[in-house]
Amino acid sequence: MEEIIDVKNIGLRGVKVADTRISDVDGERGILIYRGFNIRDLVVNSTFEEVSFLLLHDHLPTQKELEGFRSELVSERGVPEVLLKILKMVPNSTHPMDVLQTALPILASHDPQLHEETKEANFKKATRLIAKLPTIVAAWDRFRKRFEPIHPNSDLTHAGNFLYMLKGSPPDPGTARDFDICLILHAEHSFNASTFAGREVASTHAHLYASIAAALGALSGELHGGANSEVMRMLLEIGEVDRVKHWVAQKLQKGGKVMGMGHAVYHTEDPRATVLRGMCERMANRIGDRQWCELTKAIEAATKEEFRKIKGKEIYANVDFYSASVYHMMGIPRDLFTPVFALSRISGWSAHIIEEKFAEAQPKPELYRPDADYIGTYCGPQACEYIPVERRSS
Ligand SMILES: CC(C)(COP(=O)(O)OP(=O)(O)OC[C@H]1O[C@@H](n2cnc3c(N)ncnc32)[C@H](O)[C@@H]1OP(=O)(O)O)[C@@H](O)C(=O)NCCC(=O)NCCS
Repeated sequence: MEEIIDVKNIGLRGVKVADTRISDVDGERGILIYRGFNIRDLVVNSTFEEVSFLLLHDHLPTQKELEGFRSELVSERGVPEVLLKILKMVPNSTHPMDVLQTALPILASHDPQLHEETKEANFKKATRLIAKLPTIVAAWDRFRKRFEPIHPNSDLTHAGNFLYMLKGSPPDPGTARDFDICLILHAEHSFNASTFAGREVASTHAHLYASIAAALGALSGELHGGANSEVMRMLLEIGEVDRVKHWVAQKLQKGGKVMGMGHAVYHTEDPRATVLRGMCERMANRIGDRQWCELTKAIEAATKEEFRKIKGKEIYANVDFYSASVYHMMGIPRDLFTPVFALSRISGWSAHIIEEKFAEAQPKPELYRPDADYIGTYCGPQACEYIPVERRSS
């Protein structure tokens, strides 16, 4: 008899479901490691292109490998014409995360290696997805504003090109680099909900695109990637630093949540929030408008104070808290914040799906199949008597 381990109704908190070689989240010490490298070193020294290579290929690229990967990404930025036609037809009111998910099967149908299940072919598919997602998000934003999409600029970096396609002019070097750092920070985070969703689908031998579509769906929820746009909604609603204390107290006393605060794994400050807080300050000074950063800091302080009073413990900002004001100051529309998260996390998801498919961290591929206790109606050992519809009285 198979041993049943009872870990019900705790959202799998603290339950280890697999080994991984991709990243490590130390929730007690607030350390995040990608393939052995501390995120704090990567944001100083690396680029999103280099980090994507690292996540996919398990080593920092040589100069030649990095140049090859960069030019592959640049050459794959275009998207099929038919996809642009479909995007043009999608109603303007559609959430951009749904638009992104809609694009996945279209991209899949145009991938010449879709059903080629070698590791090499999956690296190629992942590279295509990393290259194309920014083009899709930017094109959709242009279409809904009744503009034509802007063609990718092969002279710009991955980060700079996205902002260019979104806004129509190349970003200044400081903003391009800050956005690049945002992409590095969001690229990977171990077995979070969306990564687990993607791995779970990959464990059925579904292709990479289907697995990524599942991950996108999981990311869209407000308790996960959707939190960043909810933080911005809160900033806009509160509006003034003077209103913060009252707003936060009301929210928490009524049992509500302050979005962007708290984390399922970190019991100290999320190291990504530390970097983003510094970026928020830097950007605010650069653009000469401190209101969003000041408001965010005031909400953080008030939430910590009120949370201590109500729950008697600490709460800390997570990655989504400061990214909201940072993206807002970059001129990114609020409902694109979560798609921006996706176009970074696509690197981590792809690395995990490949790890799952090729059992790189376990003895052999294994289909995920958890169990549940049935607590519904059950009439006895022979089950319920089936009564034909015409004889049912209630
Ligand atoms: C991320 C999140 C789901 C983790 O939740 P969790 O694993 O239950 O976290 P904890 O176990 O530390 O929560 C302990 C308590 O703090 C509360 N809490 C956690 N985050 C909170 C928040 N942002 N605002 C108010 N209360 C919060 C929980 O409701 C729980 O209350 P309870 O003990 O009365 O049930 C939660 O912090 C949250 O919803 N945050 C806001 C959404 C968000 O920013 N998501 C992005 C995460 S990267």
